Amino acid sequence: MAEPVQTPQASFPPRIFSGIQPSGGLTLGNYLGALKRFVEKQEEGIETIYCMVDMHAITVWQDPEKLRQQTREGAAAFIAAGIDPARSILFNQSQVSAHVELGWIFNCIARMGWMSRMTQFKDKAGKNSENVSLGLFAYPSLMAADILAYKATHVPVGEDQKQHLELTRDIAIKFNNDYGVDFFPVVEPVIEGAATRVMSLRDGTKKMSKSDPSDQSRINLTDDADTIAKKIRKAKTDPEPLPDSLDGLKDRPEARNLVNIYAALAGHTAEQVIRDYAGAQFGTFKPALADLAVAKLEPITLEMNRLMQDPAEIDRILGKGAERADAIARPIVDQVYDVIGMIRSRRG
Ligand code: TYM
Repeated sequence: MAEPVQTPQASFPPRIFSGIQPSGGLTLGNYLGALKRFVEKQEEGIETIYCMVDMHAITVWQDPEKLRQQTREGAAAFIAAGIDPARSILFNQSQVSAHVELGWIFNCIARMGWMSRMTQFKDKAGKNSENVSLGLFAYPSLMAADILAYKATHVPVGEDQKQHLELTRDIAIKFNNDYGVDFFPVVEPVIEGAATRVMSLRDGTKKMSKSDPSDQSRINLTDDADTIAKKIRKAKTDPEPLPDSLDGLKDRPEARNLVNIYAALAGHTAEQVIRDYAGAQFGTFKPALADLAVAKLEPITLEMNRLMQDPAEIDRILGKGAERADAIARPIVDQVYDVIGMIRSRRG
């Protein structure tokens, strides 16, 4: 019998990496697009490495005390949502220097043209592009380093990170080609589920975001049950009842968003939700969605609040996670130095 065809990537064992910025409180978008799915991956028994990417956060100025607080709060959200720091590696990026070391090397691999095409940079910089930090422009190459410092093969993210992962693939391929090695895996974006792009509750064409000036536009993981229910009741919708097929949601972004949120929270497909609620008015659907959201989110918020009572314990967990992360990333980045021709003669 013929040998099975080996892909060039066959030598890389499956390993998951993903990160969240502590640049504000986490939203329902972060939860459904990322956190909830990080937990699912952990439960599948794949090696999972998750990171509060504090070095990314400072591409825009952060108040130091708030940054520390938000990093702890993000870590508390991971744990409250079901990440077990014994099974997954959970840490903050700045405690593992391999990220920035490889980030610099990737700055020398990535091309200006590639970086200039990043839509998230263009959106964030807007008309102010002369005045944003150089770090904001280079950010996607640090993101590539976050992933490749572990030779991670799969990266669960929301839809908005897709272009950054394509860049990560380009960087890995160019590095391998430039140095004639098969060193880095070409990562697979994992963008799945009913809520890969949760939209604002005030405008169904805009992403739900922690940086939106309107707090009504999002559900924060720190919102209490009353606030969650109120925000959902007040969410923008149209006057039509829910249709009996997904097609009927095509030009109704706000309705589509609420159906997707319901589906993701319930662990159903959007089709199932439409089947259950065909013909329902929002007067019926919104209270059902509010009840579901509170039932799913309230235990997480309460557990986050409990964990935040003991910041030293969170710091201890992050420190332990960083040691385990460093043990994987350090030898990989040391090999990169060898590949690119750096003398490594220092003892100790
Ligand atoms: P960040 O901090 O903006 O978001 C963290 C994760 O949440 C997802 N997400 C959403 N998903 C669905 N709907 C939304 N409205 C929504 N808003 C956010 C994001 O897609 C992301 O998965 N650059 C990254 C952080 C990062 C990273 C990495 C991710 C740094 N290094 C390495 C993966 C691997 C970011 O800014 O995500």
